[in-house]
Amino acid sequence: MSDSTHEEAHTGPIRTPKQLFWVSFAAFVIPVFIIIGLVYYVTTGNKTAPGATDVERSIAERLQKVGVVEIRDANRPLQGGEAVFKAQCTACHATGVSGAPKLGDAGDWAARLQQGYDALLASALKGKGAMAPQGGGNFSDIEIGRAVAYMANSAGGKFAEPAAPAASGAAAAAAPETAAPVAAAAPAAAVVAATAPAADPAAGKALYDKACVACHAAGVANAPKFGDKAAWAPHIAEGMDAMLKTAISGKGAMPPRGATTATDDELRAAIQYMVDAAK
Ligand code: HEC
Ligand code: HEC
Repeated sequence: MSDSTHEEAHTGPIRTPKQLFWVSFAAFVIPVFIIIGLVYYVTTGNKTAPGATDVERSIAERLQKVGVVEIRDANRPLQGGEAVFKAQCTACHATGVSGAPKLGDAGDWAARLQQGYDALLASALKGKGAMAPQGGGNFSDIEIGRAVAYMANSAGGKFAEPAAPAASGAAAAAAPETAAPVAAAAPAAAVVAATAPAADPAAGKALYDKACVACHAAGVANAPKFGDKAAWAPHIAEGMDAMLKTAISGKGAMPPRGATTATDDELRAAIQYMVDAAK
């Protein structure tokens, strides 16, 4: 056994003190970086998206399955026009983004006001141009109507903000304040109450006297005349649902909903009132 072979067997890849220094340095430093990396990886798992403020919500949104059922509180108090505007419409209508008519700008609104409240409301509900249906929002038709009136009135319109429908007022009255948890748990019940055909004769007469009488009392522009059997017979033959549909959408000289913001139930009641008078 020579000296040289003896040395070969014991040196291995590290031959100089310098190499030894770098190997031990790396053996110490690399694990430190790996640990830092792991800690960073674990703690950033729950970081929110940039700009998100509500951590729990953003996590819930990322975890949610495709498709959601959104339960809205049917009994929440309706918002006024200004509040709805600020929440939903101001984004475009304050500065006139993509051609939106500006709040308070009579020039922007003049031509639009001529269409009348119902046409404006219809555009807001259905969407128009760059505007999404309902102004893209979370509000009921009545609230949108109030926002339309608010905006239109800011620019010279003279529309009344629509009131809450009688049916939802009754539902709210029927649900005492103390039963709030129950009410919150039963939005379905409120929906049923709101859509049940409530052909309330008093409400029907009230709406007729207010809105339909102008044309239907005398038979203006061929409106079927109040109490005129022959005039009403063909309409009655179509059935209530067909008449209601026509009254909602309008026909010939008959404006949609008789130019009111009456609900379907109120219209139905007014039609029933006229039908009863023509029997
Ligand atoms: C994303 C932007 C945007 C939002 C949000 C928005 N609008 Fe608009 N809106 C527009 C634009 C753009 C027009 C003009 C559409 C056209 O004439 O082509 C418009 C037009 C209208 C008109 C006039 C329609 C007509 O027939 O002339 C009404 C009324 C209206 N908006 C109501 C609302 C209400 C109420 C809200 C809130 C609930 C709302 N908008 C939210 C963009 C918006
Ligand atoms: C501006 C005048 C006017 C007002 C206001 C009006 N109507 Fe009419 N209505 C008409 C005319 C005109 C017709 C006939 C339309 C036709 O057959 O072409 C008609 C037809 C109808 C019909 C028969 C529709 C069918 O099935 O063919 C019903 C129902 C009706 N109106 C309900 C109402 C109710 C309810 C109101 C009040 C909320 C009302 N109208 C307000 C003018 C009016």
